[in-house]
Amino acid sequence: MKIFVTRKIPEPGLILLRKEHEIEVNPYDRVLTKKEIMQGLKGKDGLLCLLTDTIDEEVISSEPKLKMISSYAVGYNNIDVKEATKRGISVSNTPGVLTDATAEMAWSLLFSATRHIVEGDKFTRSGKFKGWDPMLLLGQGITGKTLGIIGAGRIGTCFALKSKGFNMKILYVDGKTDDTLENELGAKKVTLDTLLKKSDFISLHIPLLSSTHHLIGEQELRMMKKTAVLINTSRGPVIDEKALVKALKNGWIFGAGLDVYENEPHVEKELLKLNNVILQPHSASATVESRTKMAIMAAENMLTGLKGEMPPNCVNPDIFN
Ligand code: DGY
Repeated sequence: MKIFVTRKIPEPGLILLRKEHEIEVNPYDRVLTKKEIMQGLKGKDGLLCLLTDTIDEEVISSEPKLKMISSYAVGYNNIDVKEATKRGISVSNTPGVLTDATAEMAWSLLFSATRHIVEGDKFTRSGKFKGWDPMLLLGQGITGKTLGIIGAGRIGTCFALKSKGFNMKILYVDGKTDDTLENELGAKKVTLDTLLKKSDFISLHIPLLSSTHHLIGEQELRMMKKTAVLINTSRGPVIDEKALVKALKNGWIFGAGLDVYENEPHVEKELLKLNNVILQPHSASATVESRTKMAIMAAENMLTGLKGEMPPNCVNPDIFN
């Protein structure tokens, strides 16, 4: 069968695909336009895509042979899964293999925003370091503080468990009780308002849905402590970026660490001017280990899906009922 791959992914995944099928990979080192994706998809049975590709009704319906969409990401808000389901096309993602990497990035952002790591680096390189200073770059302590987790799924739970060495009090917001968090860390499930008011550090680990769009806006930011640090490694639009700029400029919160943005790859201009926010280019899963496992998982999903069987990480299993 024939597969279109919208961007070069680590070789181990491509090797698996090539063993059984004919593959065409985006030859450019950039995101393809929608037109280019539809062009590449012509005559293909499978589409292996990225989170940067908008796979909407127009793309899905453009190729009648399409049987399988394998996404090289855990989040799949960029794919019209409903449309794929309607057409009997399986859709899969890559959960689990990027959990640690994403949680590690959330901690990196937390440390950096809390202890002025990027500012300190710039300060030192620019020759401004003239000796130890009692008041230089004062940050917030982490040990013994309260950590608020919004979304206690795989990544949120993993992020919270990594706090063990810091003896923190854990609050979380989720639809269901998380026994691992409650038993291992004595975590408490609370309302969003309570979490916002009581946490010293707040980390977002929720998917982008209509119900989570702008979950954190002006009202929520005003509820947070002036010393709070907000971390987002989930999806940009869960925070109202304009409201965040106001909060950071006016000292409603101490700082933020962002890996994701409301209109990627655009980053709100005002954020670029602020020292109390750490900005990463959506790279939370970017470790050699994670990206290699993601490539293998995406390929294995594709191979199973093209056999007409349910891929191991199918997000629309209903089509097999
Ligand atoms: C995902 O897989 O959804 C992540 O955002 C990739 O880094």
